[in-house]
Amino acid sequence: MESVQLLVLVLMWNLSSGSVLQNQTKTRFSPLLPPTQTRFSPPVLPVLLHVSSVFRRVERRFLSVTIDSSLASEEKFMSLLGSPKVRTLAKALSPAFLRFGGTRQDFMEFSPIRRDASSSAEKSCSARLLPSWLEQRLKKEWSRQQILLKREDLQRKYKRVKFTEYTVDLLHSFSNCSGLDLIFGLNALLRTSENIWNGSNARSLLQYCESRGYQMDWELGNEPNSYQKKAGVRVDGFQLGKDFAHLREMMSQSKLYRHAGLYGPDVGQPRNHRTDILQGFLQSGAGVVDACTWHHYYVNGRDTSLEDFLDPDILDTLTLKTLEVLEKVKQASPEKPVWLGETSSAFGGGAAGLSDTFVAGFMWLDKLGLSALLGLDLVMRQVFIGSGSYHLIDQNLDPLPDFWLSVLYKRLVGPEVLKVEFSGLARSKRVRLYLHCANTRSFSRGAVTLMSLNLGPRTLSISSPLFSSGSVEAFVLESGQPGEEGLISRSVKLNGETLLMPDDETLPDLTGARLPPAERLQIPAFSLGFFVLKEARAAACR
Ligand SMILES: *[C@@H]1O[C@H](CO)[C@@H](O)[C@H](O)[C@H]1NC(C)=O
Ligand SMILES: *[C@@H]1O[C@H](CO)[C@@H](O)[C@H](O)[C@H]1NC(C)=O
Ligand SMILES: *[C@@H]1O[C@H](CO)[C@@H](O)[C@H](O)[C@H]1NC(C)=O
Repeated sequence: MESVQLLVLVLMWNLSSGSVLQNQTKTRFSPLLPPTQTRFSPPVLPVLLHVSSVFRRVERRFLSVTIDSSLASEEKFMSLLGSPKVRTLAKALSPAFLRFGGTRQDFMEFSPIRRDASSSAEKSCSARLLPSWLEQRLKKEWSRQQILLKREDLQRKYKRVKFTEYTVDLLHSFSNCSGLDLIFGLNALLRTSENIWNGSNARSLLQYCESRGYQMDWELGNEPNSYQKKAGVRVDGFQLGKDFAHLREMMSQSKLYRHAGLYGPDVGQPRNHRTDILQGFLQSGAGVVDACTWHHYYVNGRDTSLEDFLDPDILDTLTLKTLEVLEKVKQASPEKPVWLGETSSAFGGGAAGLSDTFVAGFMWLDKLGLSALLGLDLVMRQVFIGSGSYHLIDQNLDPLPDFWLSVLYKRLVGPEVLKVEFSGLARSKRVRLYLHCANTRSFSRGAVTLMSLNLGPRTLSISSPLFSSGSVEAFVLESGQPGEEGLISRSVKLNGETLLMPDDETLPDLTGARLPPAERLQIPAFSLGFFVLKEARAAACR
């Protein structure tokens, strides 16, 4: 009897899950559900965890990050990468790629100043650290610079930028000292009168980097589908593929870059003619790239809302676009890995007050979960630091909620993707689950990590016999503040404790809460969870 009541409740609850953000006076839940949760236990959704075989495997650096090339719009801002705090935060994301690229990469030219080689010979990781007085000054100036950059973006008029050895030296020492693998995005808009890529500037950059022994990978061009809008130049996909072949040829002549990675073409997400660029590119370029890259944003940063960030239908839009790209690549080059080469919540620099707050985590964790499941091998988050409001580290160089989410993902989640599904009649669009083997650097073999998103205002429970196989280590992220306001908080709590760096060199202990074996797991309202089933003894993960 009780379970029938519960089922009815769950079904009604599902019907009512249209809008979650109305306040008490307007809520659509009240006619259907009792006013408080305390009188009734939360709905229970049975789930099935497929732990006997690996569904697919992603790159070991699956969660990777970017720095937008706008940070080099004035070279002095690159020095921010020498901040001890930024270094501490970057190390926590290793192993990962660090992609340096974006709109401005196609307006940048290497312009060496040929310093005496000995003057920049120091190699030690502490040699380039930024003094704190300079850090303070640069942070202030960067805020002003952002206004100029935004104006350029709005008018789509980009200044040409010259960069010197300093930019590459800093990028390399930053990534090398943080355990990140650097990918440098070259300018594809340096073109001859025949509209063929002119590689002479790239050649001199490669020569410089080789002379310094910098291990790094390469890209060429950013969102070539919008060159017309940004620069009044049309570059067709087939020619771009040939340009990549030219770059690959140049790399093969270098001892250091003969086996380095080359990724591209960094097209925007499928939208009318954009896939044509990809198709043309693949015909001539698929053979020379190690992974095919495309970009994805869910919404426009200038025209979005809190509701969008919690809307399961918006999260699902990633599926269609991903399948479209995967299909194109599969036709041209069946085994080619496909990466999200640049991605975040909202384009146009992010949505201020959303992309940089707790609520952004729903788009981010869902993207990580869904991408791995659908067949993508790597996801590069725009941006680690700098540009716009979708950064992981804010303008004061403090970590935002998505930074902590990323660190937890790194520590807890392994590259083996497993399947999980709702198995009963009761299910919810507002709860999304993903399952991987646990990261074997943190847990013993056989453990699995279940990721959960609860996009709704009600706590509910999921059940599986596997949950009682042993103790569960729970890492539940909730907003730093209660209520709807909390969704747009810049602080986040892990198992009830606000996450803060004790000092610039140290991260807080990110310890889990040990839950005793039980058939059910509670998924709190508006939470992001990682549940490590340490004793799952999953055949897939041994
Ligand atoms: C709650 O909703 C009512 C009606 O839509 C609105 O007038 C009121 O300002 C809202 N209160 C809060 C705290 O959002
Ligand atoms: C390529 O660029 C270099 C340097 O800017 C220039 O000297 C050269 O003439 C260009 N080549 C062609 C074919 O346009
Ligand atoms: C990169 O860092 C390692 C230590 O982390 C160091 O041994 C190596 O020399 C560095 N490589 C370059 C090219 O600076």
